[in-house]
Amino acid sequence: MKAVRIHQFGGPEVLKYEDAPRPRIKSDELLIKVHASSVNPIDWKIREGKSQARFPVSFPLILGWDVSGTVEEVGESVSEFKKGDEVFGRPYPTKNGAYAEFIAVNASEISLKPTSVTHVKAAAVPLACLTAWQGLFDHGKLLPGQKVLIHAASGGVGAFAVQLAKWKGAYVIGTASENHLAFVRELGADEVIDYSKEKFEEKLKDIDLVFDTIGGDTQKRSLMVLRNGGRLITTVKPENSIEAEAHNIHLEGFVAQSYPDQLKQIALLIDERKLKIFIAEVFPLERAVQAQEHGQKGHTQGKIAIVVLASKQS
Ligand SMILES: NC(=O)c1ccc[n+]([C@@H]2O[C@H](COP(=O)([O-])OP(=O)(O)OC[C@H]3O[C@@H](n4cnc5c(N)ncnc54)[C@H](OP(=O)(O)O)[C@@H]3O)[C@@H](O)[C@H]2O)c1
Repeated sequence: MKAVRIHQFGGPEVLKYEDAPRPRIKSDELLIKVHASSVNPIDWKIREGKSQARFPVSFPLILGWDVSGTVEEVGESVSEFKKGDEVFGRPYPTKNGAYAEFIAVNASEISLKPTSVTHVKAAAVPLACLTAWQGLFDHGKLLPGQKVLIHAASGGVGAFAVQLAKWKGAYVIGTASENHLAFVRELGADEVIDYSKEKFEEKLKDIDLVFDTIGGDTQKRSLMVLRNGGRLITTVKPENSIEAEAHNIHLEGFVAQSYPDQLKQIALLIDERKLKIFIAEVFPLERAVQAQEHGQKGHTQGKIAIVVLASKQS
C-alpha cells in the first residue's frame, strides 16, 4: 500500500510517500480502508522527536492520528463492527497512523462516523474535538451559565471548543487575530478578543474557566482573569503552578484520550447539525509535506484534511 512514513526525526523533508506493507490485524483490531485523515500539531511534535517522552515511537512510522474510512477486516474478538461499516476515530499516537491506504486500529478507539458528512470532514473531528470535549467538560467541569475564555478559538481544537461550550450553555470569549475574529463570532462566541492588539487580561475578570492551547505567556496572563476557585485547563505544558496555587486556581494539563462514547455523542451533534466542521484546505496523501508545512505555520482556521481515497464518499 501507499503510505507517508518517517525513518528518522526531522523537518517536513523526512516525510516519505512510499510503499509500505499492508498492516495485519490482531484479534482486537479493525483493518480500516482509509478515506481521509487530518493534520494535527502532534504530527510535527512526533516527527521532530519532541514527544518521545510521552509518545515513544520507532521507525519506520506512519504519521496521521485521525482516521475516517471503511472497515475492511474485523479481528476475531471484535463484535461491535462489521466489514463495510463507515467509522472514524483517533488511533493511538505511538502506533502507525492513517497517512496510508490502510490502518490497523484497536476497535476500542473507533466509532461509527457521522452519516451526514463526508469522510474528509469526519477525519477532521476525532483528535481535535475529543480534546475540546475533555478540556471543557471532563477537566474544565464547565457548567451552563459559566464564563469560559478559549484561546486560539479559530484553531483545530478551539473551533470545536467554542461550539461545544455554547452548546453547553456557557458564555464564551474567544481569542484570535484580526483575520479570524469574524470566524470565531460565526462559531457562536459571545465576545472576541484580538490577541495581537488587545490584552485580554485588561478586558476580562471573574472567568470560571480558561481553556489554553497556547501556553507560555498566554497561560501565565490567563491566571489574572480567573475568579477565585476558577480552572485553567491546558493542552500544552502547565507552567505556572506556584502562581496558580497562590490565586486558588486549579491548573491542569491533560492528554486527550480516545473515548468511543464521547465520539458517539460528537457524531450525534454533527448529524443533528449542532456542531460544524470547518476545513481550511484539503491535500492529497502524496502532498502530506505541504499539508504539514501549512499547518505548522500555526495560523490554520479550523482543520487541514488529507484525502487518501478520492471518491464521491470522501
Ligand atoms: N494535550 C492534548 O491532548 C492535545 C490535543 C490536541 C492539541 N494539543 C495541542 O494544542 C495546541 C493547539 O492545537 P490545534 O490543533 O488547535 O492547533 P492549530 O489548529 O494549529 O491552531 C492554530 C490557531 O491558533 C491561533 N493562534 C496562534 N497563536 C495564538 C495566540 N497567541 N493566541 C490566540 N490564538 C493563537 C491561530 O489563530 P491566528 O491565525 O488568528 O493567530 C490559529 O487559528 C497544539 O500545541 C497541540 O499540540 C494537545
